[in-house]
Amino acid sequence: MRGFTRLDRLIWKWRGLGKPRIRIKIEAGEVRVNGTLATSGAMEIGNFDLVEVGPEIVQNRTARYVMLNKPQGVVSATVDAEHPTVVSLVEEDWADELHLAGRLDRFTTGLLIMTNDSRVSEAITEPVRKVGKRYRVGTDGEITAEMIALFEKGMWFAKEEVTTAPAQVKLLDPRECLLTIYEGKNHQVKRMFAHFGVKVVRLHREAVGELELGELTEGEWRFFDPGELMV
Ligand code: URA
Repeated sequence: MRGFTRLDRLIWKWRGLGKPRIRIKIEAGEVRVNGTLATSGAMEIGNFDLVEVGPEIVQNRTARYVMLNKPQGVVSATVDAEHPTVVSLVEEDWADELHLAGRLDRFTTGLLIMTNDSRVSEAITEPVRKVGKRYRVGTDGEITAEMIALFEKGMWFAKEEVTTAPAQVKLLDPRECLLTIYEGKNHQVKRMFAHFGVKVVRLHREAVGELELGELTEGEWRFFDPGELMV
């Protein structure tokens, strides 16, 4: 789903009206976008703009931005035959409109974002946007200066044939740190530590961009304003 569509295309998809008929309706003042008279069929319409033709509604969607504190054992998917999903924790009749802005492994806990606004989910997940994801990481072995140096420099991921963006590390304890990464490769954090033969035994995402998990308890969700992400 793209962020914008031309007004005439949207109306054509709704009722199959061709451009000449749409032009007549626009000129007759029958077409409104967010309550204001439309001026041209070429107008760019966002997914959450209200579009009306005469008394009829062509499009009327509500943008939803949900942040969840994902518990362990819940899968980052919209449907799953075996396990509860993050979407199933949002017990609302609109929950099936949501998609995930990044995934967490089943054993990982913490901040997971869901939305029906693809522009926001793309902004969070596109590596070029460099949105930081901060994790609290517990390990089964010591986190050494050598590891921190490589994480902060960027490390080679052979499968993807890329070097990871420089991460930030704050050591809290010999076996615990805060790690901020700027992309979301599959099992990225576990693979970074596995490179040194160290296993991640606890993984909890505390923040995405400027959005902090804060007081949300496990399994709880709330709406957020995308401005809170500052991406
Ligand atoms: N890195 C991982 O290895 N797992 C996650 O769930 C998130 C980041």
